[in-house]
Amino acid sequence: MSEKITSQMAMDLEDKYGAHNYHPLPVVLARGEGAYVWDVEGKRYFDFLSAYSAVNQGHCHPHIIKALTDQAKTLTLTSRAFYNDALGPYEKYITEYFGYDKVLPMNTGAEADETAIKLCRKWAYEKKGVEANKAKIVVCEGNFHGRTTTIISMSTDPDAKGGFGPYTPGFEVVPYNDLDALRKALQDDNVAGFLVEPIQGEAGVYVPEDGYLKKAYDMCKERNVLFIADEVQTGIARTGRLLACDHEGVRPDILILGKALSGGVFPVSAVLADDDIMLVIKPGQHGSTFGGNPIAAKVAIAALEVVKNEKLAERAEKLGQIFRQELRNMKSEMISVVRGKGLLNAIIIEPKNGKEAWDVCVKMAENGLLAKPTHQHIIRFAPPLIITEEQLHEAIGIIRKSIESFA
Ligand SMILES: Cc1ncc(COP(=O)(O)O)c(C=O)c1O
Repeated sequence: MSEKITSQMAMDLEDKYGAHNYHPLPVVLARGEGAYVWDVEGKRYFDFLSAYSAVNQGHCHPHIIKALTDQAKTLTLTSRAFYNDALGPYEKYITEYFGYDKVLPMNTGAEADETAIKLCRKWAYEKKGVEANKAKIVVCEGNFHGRTTTIISMSTDPDAKGGFGPYTPGFEVVPYNDLDALRKALQDDNVAGFLVEPIQGEAGVYVPEDGYLKKAYDMCKERNVLFIADEVQTGIARTGRLLACDHEGVRPDILILGKALSGGVFPVSAVLADDDIMLVIKPGQHGSTFGGNPIAAKVAIAALEVVKNEKLAERAEKLGQIFRQELRNMKSEMISVVRGKGLLNAIIIEPKNGKEAWDVCVKMAENGLLAKPTHQHIIRFAPPLIITEEQLHEAIGIIRKSIESFA
């Protein structure tokens, strides 16, 4: 196809030839740089989704792209049937970076969650002494850990779960941010793990009360239960700390990372744990053809270097406070709640004259800013963390103007 594609053509092709498992905003993107993306017609937008927090380092960060292209010309994939010269140095780098003995490399967030579930179950049988096939993992209402059949088995979202049964057993759901319910669930000796998002991103950026994670962690320790943090969305500087768990000084027994581990240039995910947990999985018991490939290894090191060199956690913390304050200052009838941490934030939209969160997002797109509703009335705002303060103020102006247009 040599003909230049228009937005309408691109949307028509996706509609006709692609499965209808997404409902995108009508914007067709062709280029990205830093905090901006451009559509096919050349219109520029602030990206306030950052591919669900994968692009924390900004679009096409030169340091990461160099790592990608250099390695792509050298060696792309060996599988784990052989060693490669990039994986070992990456494993050393990431384990020292996050302070764990070992890493298990995968590709997507869902795969990393699946890995954590398997690791936890195996640990239950080999270390905790749970009877075969009886292990349980406690999860939270409103969770989002991905789309595989096992993961949707613990979902409480009817869209994610409905119609895809039979479901994988072994999960017990408790309300999020409810320590009494967790305490009760942990009484069962077969409980091996508590899998939790430090902030529930997909559910609508639900921030638990201060102290929730620490108390939950302490309860897990009392009951010899693994505290498993899914930081696929919250991790890697997004919430104003390297990990969202760092806000409460909690060190998860199993840490799950994805998305921004590659700065959005390649699917890279990871599970981190210490030896007493990680080594329960033996050769042949888990893996992935692409997991730990040389491109992923080089890209992930570069992505993590950017986070440190550009002090992205500190930036997210500072800019997040400005952002939430400015949103609250808008005092719009259409914004009933502003919440979040660092640069992972959301507002709840009160529909007005039949206009909902979707209409607000369409209007913001017209005005040059991209965000997407999550559930019907919530809009998440998660710009790349390299956004400057000046750009942030400009973006806030677009949000204000868009919302005021419905007054
Ligand atoms: C907390 C969390 N876990 C897991 C996932 C799944 O990641 P992936 O889409 O890469 O499989 C997501 C994706 O949004 C997520 O937010």
